[in-house]
Amino acid sequence: MSTTKQFDVVVIGGGPGGYIAAIRAAQLGFSVACVDAAENAKGGPALGGTCTNVGCIPSKALLQSSEHYEHAGHSFADHGIDVAGLKLNLGQMLKRKDSIVKQNNDGIVFLFKKNKVTFFHGRASFAGAATAEGYPLSVSAPANETISAKHVIVATGSNARELPGAPFDEKLILSNTGALAIDAVPAKLGVIGAGVIGLEMGSVWRRLGSDVTVLEGLPVFLGAVDEQIAKEAGKLFAKQGLNINLGCKIGQITPGKNNVSVAYENAKGEAQTAVFDKLIISIGRTPNTNGLAADKVGLQLDERGFVAVDGDCKTNLPNVWAVGDVVRGPMLAHKAEEEGVAVAERIAGQHGHTNFNTIPWVIYTSPEIAWVGQTEQQLKAAGIAYKAGTFPFMANGRARALGDTSGMVKFLADATSDEILGVHIIGPMASELIAEAVVAMEFKASAEDIARICHAHPSLSEATKEAALAIDKRTLNF
Ligand code: FAD
Ligand code: NAI
Repeated sequence: MSTTKQFDVVVIGGGPGGYIAAIRAAQLGFSVACVDAAENAKGGPALGGTCTNVGCIPSKALLQSSEHYEHAGHSFADHGIDVAGLKLNLGQMLKRKDSIVKQNNDGIVFLFKKNKVTFFHGRASFAGAATAEGYPLSVSAPANETISAKHVIVATGSNARELPGAPFDEKLILSNTGALAIDAVPAKLGVIGAGVIGLEMGSVWRRLGSDVTVLEGLPVFLGAVDEQIAKEAGKLFAKQGLNINLGCKIGQITPGKNNVSVAYENAKGEAQTAVFDKLIISIGRTPNTNGLAADKVGLQLDERGFVAVDGDCKTNLPNVWAVGDVVRGPMLAHKAEEEGVAVAERIAGQHGHTNFNTIPWVIYTSPEIAWVGQTEQQLKAAGIAYKAGTFPFMANGRARALGDTSGMVKFLADATSDEILGVHIIGPMASELIAEAVVAMEFKASAEDIARICHAHPSLSEATKEAALAIDKRTLNF
């Protein structure tokens, strides 16, 4: 039987944008519900969205496992550790990944209980215009509820983009979902799109033994990354055996019984055909507004299908907000979370804030690539006078002890004020090192500030200090 329950805030979507917004709104004293449609293999709820179920978390679990496997096979001997009879147990690797996902799913259930957020498992859609009680929303099975909300936060995320004529079957033609659950290492793996997913998933399966070919449409590699870093990354990935082909025009994709053939034109305009055991298509993601019934209430979408919002995540409808992948801006979990917190605080009349200039990016390849702020090419294009300083991990004692000396830290600072404008890292633990740069930029620090801060020895973070010193050609260890 259907019931009507009233809430101050209803969040549609339980990914990083949605569940964090729900928790923050509850902390601020609102009655809050979160509706999420995702289900696990048993049909139960699977809170955490793309990030937890088929994104950040499972991909990092497999990246870690595959890196251990590669180290055991290739670099342990250098440390004086001889491994006999090394064998891949892919079933266990996938099981471990699934159990980490479940721990995260369960963790959010616990957090909802702790913060008194009511959870409905089902798909929410707008049921009509706002009344005195707020917006009526219907929630489909298994929840089967009609609820109303004074404020609605849309956090419905994104889906993998398909190539025309090549729908995902998750057996031969894989989105991120299938790419994270391949149950036998494919001898030949094709990847279309040399972006973040292509490189991370390509790395996982290459380390586990696949011959990986990446076909990228653009003539440049990692166009959004600082050119010097992207060039270094291209060299290192090629050395690892990732076969990355730029400037490819993809044609017909034909799935067979056990393999899939891809016709394409290479950068020289020559017609090619490649046959793969599995094909991952990672060419970006599209906002997910399916089933929201946005048109029922006149919720405006932009020309690319994102929910249209202003800088404060307000939609065209009063008291309807939208955050995360379903709105403009980088499709990153931490960006979604920041927006979720800021919206909850704005609903409470506070001054929630998201600084788009200091959102860090990380690509979890080996070496990792991480950056914040502007690239050298962006500064040049904007005509901003800057100074650059780099420091290679090769000259860092901790990196040598780790046996991971590839890459560098690069600082870009304003030529006059010395304010840090961008920091770019390729190297070990770049994902952790970038946090210092984010803090520095948030506080509008100068490169000199970092250069004068005491960094522990021996640590990778000394490379950050040295790159800041390099701005004025004062490196001490290089
Ligand atoms: P989502 O996480 O997509 O969550 C949306 C939720 O809403 C889903 O559970 C969906 O089922 C639900 N939903 C949709 N419509 C409805 C409806 N009508 N009613 C009820 N529920 C609904 N980002 C990073 O920052 N770091 C990473 O390392 C990283 N790795 C990634 C790896 C992969 C393979 C992929 C695909 C993505 C990765 N991302 C990463 C991106 C990250 O996953 C997203 O940016 C993030 O999940 C967006 O959060 P969100 O809350 O906006 O949406
Ligand atoms: P992406 O935007 O990172 O990369 C897509 C790549 O595909 C681009 O290089 C693009 O030029 C190429 N491409 C597009 N159309 C093509 C075509 N027709 N033929 C050949 N190449 C084509 O998108 P991706 O890798 O799918 O990931 C989606 C998003 O998920 C990322 O942008 C990121 O926001 C998020 N993500 C974040 C991660 C992280 O933070 N570590 C990890 C994985 C995903």
